[in-house]
Amino acid sequence: MGALEQTDPEVAAIIHKEEERQRLGLEIIASENLTSAAVLEAVGSVLTNKYAEGYPGKRYYGGCQYVDEVEELARSRACELFGAEHANVQPHSGAEANMATYSALMKVGDTAMGMNLSDGGHLTHGLEVNFSARLYNFVHYGVDRERELIDYDQMRETAKRERPAVIIAGATTYSRIIDFEVCGQIADEVGAYLVADIAHIAGLVAAGVHPSPVPHAHVVTSTTHKTLRGPRSAFILCREELAERIDKAVFPGTQGGPHMHVIAAKAVCFGEAMKPEFTEYQKRVVENAQALAEELQAQGWRIVSGGTDNHLVLVDVGARGLSGSKAQKALDAVGIYANKNTIPFDERPPYIGSGLRLGTPGLTTRGMGPEEMRSIGGIIARVLENREDEKVQTEARRRVRELAEAYPAPGITDRAAVGA
Ligand SMILES: Cc1ncc(COP(=O)(O)O)c(C=O)c1O
Repeated sequence: MGALEQTDPEVAAIIHKEEERQRLGLEIIASENLTSAAVLEAVGSVLTNKYAEGYPGKRYYGGCQYVDEVEELARSRACELFGAEHANVQPHSGAEANMATYSALMKVGDTAMGMNLSDGGHLTHGLEVNFSARLYNFVHYGVDRERELIDYDQMRETAKRERPAVIIAGATTYSRIIDFEVCGQIADEVGAYLVADIAHIAGLVAAGVHPSPVPHAHVVTSTTHKTLRGPRSAFILCREELAERIDKAVFPGTQGGPHMHVIAAKAVCFGEAMKPEFTEYQKRVVENAQALAEELQAQGWRIVSGGTDNHLVLVDVGARGLSGSKAQKALDAVGIYANKNTIPFDERPPYIGSGLRLGTPGLTTRGMGPEEMRSIGGIIARVLENREDEKVQTEARRRVRELAEAYPAPGITDRAAVGA
């Protein structure tokens, strides 16, 4: 029996239920992944006890010699992995990385330009109720109606008209390659800073499976927990001339003490991402997303933009009279976890949405390949098409469990099997 089970069986039981959900279900949420046991161990380490406001060598607390070492290691691995000049590994989350970056590059009230939220942009790219639009004057670019691809001409036109101080390239729901080179040219033409938010695609970028924004962007922000498969956290990369501004904007600008246990886990995940297996994994993530998209198309489901170049597939369930929220609920009931989403030019509100966003990072981590993706695509189609049919649901639940048991999730112990 573990310490948690002994001292707080109530919390231990909840965590155990979540372990079982992850172990026996299929997580097909594009922004999630399953970290390694090594990452989990670092997150659960004694480094959580340490206060370390400041940066390595310049802390406000004593006893920082070892956390200095781990932060230095995380910073240098991040720079090596992405070919960047400077890294700040202290942001607690993607939203905070963006907040710090905006405050480093803009004054309150300045104009910034990001991707429309309904076309795939993130809350921090200018949602009215988010700090981004409350502090800065956000304008947007989006995708063209016909191809559902980023309209770079419209991006250029809007940039020329609005003269933003910052252009944000990056998305939360966009399944195609983002042309960071063109975004960089547009930023240069209007004298804006280019911020690339690669929260979703960081793993693909690290592995060279998606073109890197580093040569074109002044600042790159990212989470570590999506395709990069690290702990729930974030980091910022920038050019040397912006290093001091970015560092000051993170601490003391927008954060207090860094989470040293999570920084250690970030070092571990950057280290894992440097290995050749990681490149193979990322290639498989894309191959799997393409197989999943093809299967769903073969079953008569429309995929936004007609397919995918990355880890993500956006299904237009509205085209078959279904809302995103109904689709999400139907899959939940059989142990397939996905999320509802808006699609470009959506007429449904964001909380309902006409889209279902799927992603392959987690399933690929479990070792699944294109064949399993086609099976899962088939299960998804059957469940969505027969939402009232108990028999279909029971069979789907059985198949989901069978697949989940055949491909164990890393870092999660099957306690029944070990006799716990
Ligand atoms: C593009 C993008 N930026 C930023 C974030 C925010 O990350 P977090 O949830 O860690 O604050 C996300 C998360 O979904 C994202 O997709």
